[in-house]
Amino acid sequence: MTHKEQLAAIKAFSFKKMSNDATGHNFDHIQRVIKTAQRILKDEPADATITLAAAYLHDVADDKLVSDPATLEQEIRDFLQNIDFTEEQINEILYITHNLSFSKSLSANPPKLSLAGQIVQDADRLDAIGAIGITRAIYYGGANSETIYDPNIQPRKSMNKAEYRNLDNETIINHFYEKLLKLTAMMNTPTAKKIAEQRHQYMLDFLDEFKAEWDAKK
Ligand code: ADP
Ligand code: NI
Repeated sequence: MTHKEQLAAIKAFSFKKMSNDATGHNFDHIQRVIKTAQRILKDEPADATITLAAAYLHDVADDKLVSDPATLEQEIRDFLQNIDFTEEQINEILYITHNLSFSKSLSANPPKLSLAGQIVQDADRLDAIGAIGITRAIYYGGANSETIYDPNIQPRKSMNKAEYRNLDNETIINHFYEKLLKLTAMMNTPTAKKIAEQRHQYMLDFLDEFKAEWDAKK
């Protein structure tokens, strides 16, 4: 199989797995991550096939989204083998999909990602900020019955992985302080950092406007 045929097969597999999610992980998220990864790949000497394969598959076995991630990882492994990926390539792709999450980055020993992995992580994080990020946070908050905003709940400035994953009184606006506004400083590649800075400012402007309207100051 050519690289192009392999990626077409992975795209179809990802589409089948991701097209009925209602928490902001629909296939449109995947397509934006792919586009952004392609944009970053123009500036970085990473393996494009590994990068794009991992980008297509990065949320398929997410333990937030599926009850049995291990079975899905095995399914992905078998699928990649069937379309001629080597054991080494499969391990690299699954290492990326397994380790790119924000909560993993908060652990005491954050995983080290290859350049391909860093690009997928940057592309995924760019989709969590800016206008798209604002929309996804509201969409996710609605799907999970979160409160919009509570001025009495203060953002928790630093959290470890377990604390982040066990938040029980999250508000949509708090999520900006506890995750989204931290992502720009965490970008790996200069290209992503530059894109992130503009999107970051857009979120700061949004939050200023939101609070001014909340207090009827505007
Ligand atoms: P990703 O696919 O970008 O790794 P997540 O799985 O963490 O993202 O979440 C999907 C989307 O929902 C992201 O845009 C994220 O910022 C948003 N989101 C996650 N948790 C919350 C939350 N508690 N409140 C509001 N939005 C959230
Ligand atoms: Ni994602």
